[in-house]
Amino acid sequence: MLQVIELTKQFGGMTAVDRLSFTVGDGEIVGLLGPNGAGKTTTIRCVASLLQPTSGHILLNGHDVSDDPVGAKRALAFVPEVPNPYEMLTVMEHLRFVAAAYGMEEELVHAEEILTRLDLWEKRGDLGASLSKGMRQKLACACAFIHKAQVFCFDEPLIGLDPKGMRELKAMIMERRALGNSVLISTHMLDTAERLCDRVIILKRGQLIAEGTVPELKQRLQSSDATSLEDMFLELTEEPIA
Ligand SMILES: Nc1ncnc2c1ncn2[C@@H]1O[C@H](COP(=O)(O)OP(=O)(O)OP(=O)(O)O)[C@@H](O)[C@H]1O
Ligand SMILES: [Mg+2]
Repeated sequence: MLQVIELTKQFGGMTAVDRLSFTVGDGEIVGLLGPNGAGKTTTIRCVASLLQPTSGHILLNGHDVSDDPVGAKRALAFVPEVPNPYEMLTVMEHLRFVAAAYGMEEELVHAEEILTRLDLWEKRGDLGASLSKGMRQKLACACAFIHKAQVFCFDEPLIGLDPKGMRELKAMIMERRALGNSVLISTHMLDTAERLCDRVIILKRGQLIAEGTVPELKQRLQSSDATSLEDMFLELTEEPIA
């Protein structure tokens, strides 16, 4: 389970995330939506301990990222917005490195299956520096799937993937849900969010402005003409005309 409690992150005088609270339960996929600059990446980077929150708490399977960073990191698999593979490690060496870092070398028995599903098995001997953008994205996902995390955070994982890669990654994410893992996924692809996510959270200027299942949000906006998540998103995030 992932718990974000009253998370605030300021950069200088600018508040990027503002008293944000939400939970991703076991066996749940939650979509983190919001316009550019809404605070999605900042939230996910705080969850991954890449940014220090200004205030608030983040718990990964009950481990506070500030008080128990080792326990928290062990529970998390994170795929960044812009993956940067190690230039001088091969695809397979990345998986070996991650498995070793988590003390889970036995999980390498799944490497062939994971890499094959993501069309990277043929590239297993290639260096990180030689991979295309989509292949880098797939390698970051493969590294996330190789160890037994309970919480998965993906920052726009589908951007740059080919249609087969997108389908396979969505299937792999749903398999994690079936295993009881918690998945947080930021995306601008509203059709995908509607189909893949059990719940969505909509951020605007760092604040949570709507949360619920897509049918719940539709009901809340019943008086309006919103019929799809896209309609709702545009209605909720619309800036008032000055
Ligand atoms: N390192 C930083 N220093 C200063 N300001 C930052 C930093 N990182 C993010 N911000 C600011 O915080 C706000 C939220 O940015 P963030 O990257 O979290 O948005 P996002 O929702 O992920 O947007 P996008 O959809 O474009 O990826 C923006 O105003 C951004 O300019
Ligand atoms: Mg972002």
